[in-house]
Order: sequence, then C-alpha cells, then structure tokens
Amino acid sequence: MTKQSLLPDHYQKIPVYRPTGVPREITEKFGEDLVNLASNENPLGPSPKALQKMQSALKNSFLYPEPLFKGLASALSQKLNISTDHLHFGNGIEEILVHIANALIHKGDHVVLSNMTFPLYTNNNKFRQANESVVPLDKNFVYDLKSIKKQITKDTKLVYLCNSNNPTGTYFNKAEFDSFLEGLSPDLIVLYDEAYFEYADADDYPNGMDYLNKHKNIIITRTFSKFYALAGLRVGYSIQRPDLTKALDHVKSLYSNNFIGEVGAIAALKDLDHINKTQKMNKDGKVQFLQELKGLDIIIHPTQANFFMIQTKLDARKLAGELLQLGVMVCPLNAFGIENGIRVTIGTSQENQSFFKAIGSILS
Ligand SMILES: Cc1ncc(COP(=O)(O)O)c(C=O)c1O
Repeated sequence: MTKQSLLPDHYQKIPVYRPTGVPREITEKFGEDLVNLASNENPLGPSPKALQKMQSALKNSFLYPEPLFKGLASALSQKLNISTDHLHFGNGIEEILVHIANALIHKGDHVVLSNMTFPLYTNNNKFRQANESVVPLDKNFVYDLKSIKKQITKDTKLVYLCNSNNPTGTYFNKAEFDSFLEGLSPDLIVLYDEAYFEYADADDYPNGMDYLNKHKNIIITRTFSKFYALAGLRVGYSIQRPDLTKALDHVKSLYSNNFIGEVGAIAALKDLDHINKTQKMNKDGKVQFLQELKGLDIIIHPTQANFFMIQTKLDARKLAGELLQLGVMVCPLNAFGIENGIRVTIGTSQENQSFFKAIGSILS
C-alpha cells in the first residue's frame, strides 16, 4: 500500500487552496516596486507602537506562550465590553474555522453556505464529510439570506455568513439579518465572519456584537490580519457564548498561539493614531477609486471592506496577467465563477494611482 492510498478518498477530491505566486520574471523586473493589491492587506503596515512592543518582546521567544491569550482576551474584553469567557483565539480566523469544524461539524451534518465567498468554509466541511447546500449570491452579488433560510432544515448544523463578503465587498444589512434570525432554531450555529468589520462604515451594517444575545448559537469571527495589519503574525478571535468558547478551546492545539502576535495585537488595539490613519486611507481610497475609474467601461461594486470587486469586459485572469506585466497585482475571480471580475485591494494613494494608470492603459 502506498502512502498516498492511506489518505481517505474524499480528501483527494478536495481542492488545495493556495494563493497564486508571482512569476520570477515579474519579481525580478519590479522587485519592491511591485504594487500588491491582491490580498486585502493593510499597506500602511503594523502600528509603529505594535512594532516597538513586538521587538522588545522577542527576547522572550524562548518561553512557551500562554495558551489562551489571556492578555489579549483582557484587552478585547474591555474594548468590546464582554467577559473574557466569550473569547476564543486562533492562528487567524482560518484556524478558528478548523476549531469550529473540529468541535461542531461531524460526518453527515448539513451545513449551508454561499458560492462566491471565502473558500476555506467549504474545505472544512468537505474534510469532515458534511453535506453542503450552496446558495448563490443574489444578482447584486449580496448574500441571499432569504434563499439561505429556505435551505435550513431540522438537520442543519451550521450556516456560514460572511459580512462584508470576500471577494465581492458587498454586505447584507441589519433589517435583512434580523429577519433571517427571526424564528431560526436556537440550536443552529450561525457563523458570522466579520474579517473586514473595522472597514464597514454603512449605518445599517449589522455589527455582530449587537447579535450576541439575539441568537443563542452565533459565533462571530474577527481578525488582526486586515485592518490591524498583522496578517503575518496570525491572530484571530471569535466571540460566542461561554460554553461554546469552552468547546472551541477544548479542540485547540495547546501552543498554536504566537505570543509576539498577541503583544502586537494588544498594542495595535490601543494605537488610535494608526487606527485613524488606516480608516482615513481606506475612506479616501474609496472616493479615489470611484472618481478615477469613472470614465472606464466597468462595473465597480459598492464595498464595505478594504477592496473593490470590479467587472470588466475582459477575462479576469487575462486582465490580471496584463496588470501584472505592468507591475500591479490583483486577484482574478475566475475561481469563484466570476469570469470577468477582479478583486482589488484599496492601497495607499500612490498604489491606487499605479492601478488606475495600468488598468486605464489596458482598457482604453
Ligand atoms: C472573509 C475572510 N474570513 C477569514 C479570513 C482569514 O483571515 P485570517 O488571516 O485571520 O486567517 C479571510 C482572509 O482573507 C477572509 O477574507
């Protein structure tokens, strides 16, 4: 028997999710000047105060981390005005999704999700052989909560909701979320992924914290990877009722936490100057995109995140390839079934200008 055949059959059918690398000739040509607008990172980089704290914490790297992130739990509990037993931590939301699946999703469970959304939801279901119902986004690329609700049966264990949605940037509003939750079985787990929460500024955007007591089994996920610019340090958290926290802590590997990340996250939460700079950059960037791209024959979808989904008349992979030749990296959305869509991170004003110039030269 070969090693390969030791893997269960269903594992082998699960797509491997990896970001596409940049061809060597491009890195050689552009080096540091490559404008990376592909991964929704914060181009301002980490808060300088966080950097300072992390640098001085490095000398303690010989110590094991505190497994439950008690320092960060305390800082977040003050910020969110909840007790620490509502907070669970992981190596990014990505790992928390694995904890959720390990603790709560079993073979044969029914789960509901959408099609054009964060790809790792489906992988976790598939590894555990859960039965998925996949509901398309509506015609405006917004989560179709009414159709999702229709798919829920007495056997449904979990529903995945991503708001704002990656890769479309679109969102569903408070009224839609309220009516979705109305009458749902309290046993159903509602995973409410708010990876881009800090960027959402619409008055009717449903802040997950307002729903913590409205649905018994809601799990809200947030991250320090995006707004707080600590993607490389892998710090994510979830907020839920205390017995769910216990269940998630139970399946967590003991020392997966990165204590440098924890130190950075605590400092980043307090650095109001950097928080304001990030907010302003994104707000100004949104205006800049809408103004500068006005003349082009494209559709720019409204966003509640730090990226735009843009549809053009070209195949997305081809367009992304041409942009890359001009030194600008974006994410083509063919893999999501959006053949003419690209996702473009809102960068610094200068990075945005590079994108406008490059796409303008291709499309006009
Ligand atoms: C919607 C959504 N959820 C979760 C994640 C994963 O975030 P983390 O870096 O915290 O694992 C991402 C990252 O792109 C995302 O877009």
